[in-house]
Amino acid sequence: MSGGVLHGDIKKYFRDRLSAGNMVVYRLASPVEDEIALKTSPGQMPDDREGMVRLPDSEKVVSGPEVTTENPPASGISSMDMAGLRTAVAGCERCSLSSTRTNTVFGDGNPRARIVFVGEAPGRDEDLQGVPFVGRSGKLLDKILAAIGFTREDVFIANILKCRPPNNRDPQDVEVVACEEYLARQLQLIDPVVICALGRVAGQTLLKTKESLRVLREGIHHYNGIRLIVTYHPAALLRNPNFKRPTWEDMKLLKKICDEGAGD
Ligand code: URA
Repeated sequence: MSGGVLHGDIKKYFRDRLSAGNMVVYRLASPVEDEIALKTSPGQMPDDREGMVRLPDSEKVVSGPEVTTENPPASGISSMDMAGLRTAVAGCERCSLSSTRTNTVFGDGNPRARIVFVGEAPGRDEDLQGVPFVGRSGKLLDKILAAIGFTREDVFIANILKCRPPNNRDPQDVEVVACEEYLARQLQLIDPVVICALGRVAGQTLLKTKESLRVLREGIHHYNGIRLIVTYHPAALLRNPNFKRPTWEDMKLLKKICDEGAGD
């Protein structure tokens, strides 16, 4: 096997595969050692070495995709269930935010919710508690939910990023790309009637557009076949109470879509 092997990512790759419940038989290559094979099963491989065995030649895997930087391995995320996904997120090291976070913030609420709210990224309180929207914005979101007859237990709340960006800066593209597969799988598993993107960053990221929030608030969009609306982020409402009335209009639309789609 030639150069470019993903030594740094290989543990994460197997962890993803294992938490997806896969039996992994794969070969690793080292530029200095003989080829080695890894054969393990779900629940194993707590660290780099455990679960690794040097297989007899007869058992060596001689075919299969070569894992290189140009050809990264499939993550397995798209076949994970919610529990596997939670485990994968908890151990995620896909971007540098893993080194500054206190906790990952997986998402919270009803895994069979009809409405999923998607914010931007955890803030300080969320990072400390591992739960989305628990700070001032979260308290306001709870009130908004109550105004349309819901509690947090009725809906699901997630973010574009699972980890807090330092000093609450905007998510960077590389972080969004690293994280988006997790949210995509969560949304696929929950399969809600409607997604409500909270703020410009969530709206732009989910819809893969650079349109302004003003434009995004107009109309009903779709994300992988799921209806999606965009409204103001609760933090924006805290800064500017004038946004409360248009947000209320958005929430009435959200409730209407949810009620109409309840039988879908
Ligand atoms: N802001 C967000 O976008 N998400 C949170 O979880 C908290 C604040």
